[in-house]
Amino acid sequence: MKKISVISILFLAISAITYAKPPAASRYHLLLDRNWKFFLGDDANASAIAYNDNAWRLLDLPHDWSIEGEFKKDAPTGGGGGYLPTGIGWYRKQLVLPSVFRNKQVSIQFDGVYMNSEVWINGHYLGKRPYGYISFVYDLTPYLTKGTNTIAVRVDNSEQPNSRWYSGSGIYRHVWLNITNALHVAQWGTFVTTPDADSAKATVAIKTRIDNNGIEAGNATLLSTIYDENGQQVASNEIPIAVSAKDSSEFEQSIAVTSPLLWSVDAPHLYTLHSVIRSGKKIIDDFKSTFGIRKLEYSSVNGFMLNGKRVKMNGVCLHHDGGCVGAAVPIKIWETRLKLLKSMGCNAIRTSHNPVAPEFLDLCDKMGFLVMDEAFDAWESGKVKNDYHLYFDEWSQTDVTAQIHRDRNHPSVVLWSAGNEIPDQTNDKGIILLKNLLATFHKEDPTRPVTTANDDIAADKNPTKLPFMEEEDIVGYNYVDRWHERRELYYGIDHYDHPNWKMIGTESESLRNVPVYSLGTDSSKAHPNYTAGMVRSELLWKFVAVHDYVIGDFMWTGIDYLGEARWPGKGSSSGEIDMTNLPKDGYYFYQSQWTSKPVLHLLPHWNWAGREGQIIPMLAYTNCDTVELFVNGKSYGIKVQEFPRQGNSGGWNKYDRPPVNATTADLHLTWDVAYEPGTIKAVGHKNGKQVIIEEIHTAGKPAALHLTTDSTTVSADGKDVALVHVEVLDAQGNIVPYADNLITFTVKGSGKLIGVDNGNQRDDDAFNLNTRKAFNGHAYAVIQADRKPGDITLTVEADGLKQDAVTINTQAAKSNIMAFEEFK
Ligand code: GAL
Repeated sequence: MKKISVISILFLAISAITYAKPPAASRYHLLLDRNWKFFLGDDANASAIAYNDNAWRLLDLPHDWSIEGEFKKDAPTGGGGGYLPTGIGWYRKQLVLPSVFRNKQVSIQFDGVYMNSEVWINGHYLGKRPYGYISFVYDLTPYLTKGTNTIAVRVDNSEQPNSRWYSGSGIYRHVWLNITNALHVAQWGTFVTTPDADSAKATVAIKTRIDNNGIEAGNATLLSTIYDENGQQVASNEIPIAVSAKDSSEFEQSIAVTSPLLWSVDAPHLYTLHSVIRSGKKIIDDFKSTFGIRKLEYSSVNGFMLNGKRVKMNGVCLHHDGGCVGAAVPIKIWETRLKLLKSMGCNAIRTSHNPVAPEFLDLCDKMGFLVMDEAFDAWESGKVKNDYHLYFDEWSQTDVTAQIHRDRNHPSVVLWSAGNEIPDQTNDKGIILLKNLLATFHKEDPTRPVTTANDDIAADKNPTKLPFMEEEDIVGYNYVDRWHERRELYYGIDHYDHPNWKMIGTESESLRNVPVYSLGTDSSKAHPNYTAGMVRSELLWKFVAVHDYVIGDFMWTGIDYLGEARWPGKGSSSGEIDMTNLPKDGYYFYQSQWTSKPVLHLLPHWNWAGREGQIIPMLAYTNCDTVELFVNGKSYGIKVQEFPRQGNSGGWNKYDRPPVNATTADLHLTWDVAYEPGTIKAVGHKNGKQVIIEEIHTAGKPAALHLTTDSTTVSADGKDVALVHVEVLDAQGNIVPYADNLITFTVKGSGKLIGVDNGNQRDDDAFNLNTRKAFNGHAYAVIQADRKPGDITLTVEADGLKQDAVTINTQAAKSNIMAFEEFK
């Protein structure tokens, strides 16, 4: 009896699952990345429905054809584009829409196509978008047929040079199909702000634009409901709405939230707004927007305040490429990089010098980064022959409006930049151009200030026009220390002359590590200090750290990037993290200044065969009170630094904490050490306690390869990647810092190799080979899962070295993103 009832309950449960009809959704947002046909070249007929694309290559987006090519010294991009090929390419995709989409509004959304894209549906020309970094949408509804629909996209990146850095070529970001009813929340149609926000209570102000593409007036209600991170309903508000046929209207609501969890860099709490249009019980639309509750304040005295607390922006500038994968960057790569930046103590990112992929901003929301969202690198006056100045007059208002609408709900976005080093900053026309852009920013988003990154503020010839700076909400300084006494006085001069200016370091020198340590060949000459920018960066940081009115600083750059190179280089080494996501020495400098957990990093390596007895300058980046250095057990002394140094407090010669007699005013320690092979060891103390030890051993000959992977399980979604590092080790397991063995990568099973690298910007082997020389004992590979779950095995081999292998398991993807092909 008992048994039967269990079975019948089970049967009931199963039938409920099998037979309950899921309610047809009122809106779909489907990924349209799979199975596009691609042709590198031009063909005037390729937009036609009947065109035969059988011979074209089948691929999944995102796709960057430049990165698949070879580095060539005479490439039309020049060093700006990293000497990679560009040209013209075509994409085509055929799709049959399911019958539930009939009579619906269907639009196609491109998150980014570089550049000069033109799109057709069933032979109808939909339009063009010159700017390669902007997201755009076309309405497909009037042109769709019941049968096969053909989308064709022409991408023209042939007019070169058009960029100062690597752009990539093609449909290098995601493509989506949006399906709605005639009455629906417009594309990027919600604007959620929090005019009051503290931990007791917040006001959430919502503007919702509703389009009615139908031929009848839309009378319904708009129910806006806020949910917290656990999916719990927090508060809601419903209002009647009426939108005339073929019209669009905006509606305003205000919702009070008590005891909100505020969004901050340390605790980035998010909320979701569900905007439901309904008529009686019928749901007409259900649109979701993620937002955060937080209060931003900028002042000429206190810099930047987040939720009432002063936060210094410890920022980095980032370009958009992902290293060896080019511009089509799997999100895992950004996740890895942002985690690294976070543990460096970085809390702010400037998206230099263009709008980024939307999922990048989603990550910044989730991880707690403050974003300066930048629009352009040129306005009317160009920097290279074919850059955005050709399109500025016709397109800048459209592009900037799209950028604001797309990005303005992201809590991470705290500041807009209308441009980088705009040559028009120095001419009268520039002031008018700036005013026009500011008017749009302020109209479309009155909640965030706007800056521009000015490089000529104190230039001897042709300085930035004063009215230009006076017009800005915040004056942005690129290389504030560039001119004359500003090397020492920085913002001080302008702060004195213009006490009301709010000021930010939009760009400044990073430590600029050299990729290979050099002691020079002439031992009678002063030793190099291994980095080109250490003194400049240290002095700047000291100023920024102790002057509250400076909002923060964004160093050039957080991560190495492709392009802006001089042959045989192919990219820039200005990052504190290299293109293989490996921190460089400078990373630890910033970590020592920007974090409080014990940091102790020694440089250079301890492999100086042939230089026995010669003095090697040994450097340490640390936030310890004292560090003692030992070579093979012999002490080279204790060194001490303190910043800011504390003065007397509470009486003469009295201190809040035990005073340290600093041995240097630098922000690093240094010892001159006679080289002898063995072990160099540094021991760090804080508050009298040993807190950290750093050791480097002289490595022997290369003996083995050693693999580490960031993930042993990845999603079988055709997109997810495992990032694999290979080290060349000696017999004792030490990394061999000079090793340059040629490594062969073999991938078998449910995935493929999509890129290899070693961090050396001067290595011009293509990224899509299955071999790579190690650089400084290190190489890197990106393995992408395909869509069939299974195992991927990666084996690495090099002549004379013990090989290594790793298995990565790929599992059915758990995701709330649905591909068009998965829709049933
Ligand atoms: C800056 C510029 C950046 C980059 C950098 C290289 O002046 O804004 O885009 O070119 O120089 O050092």
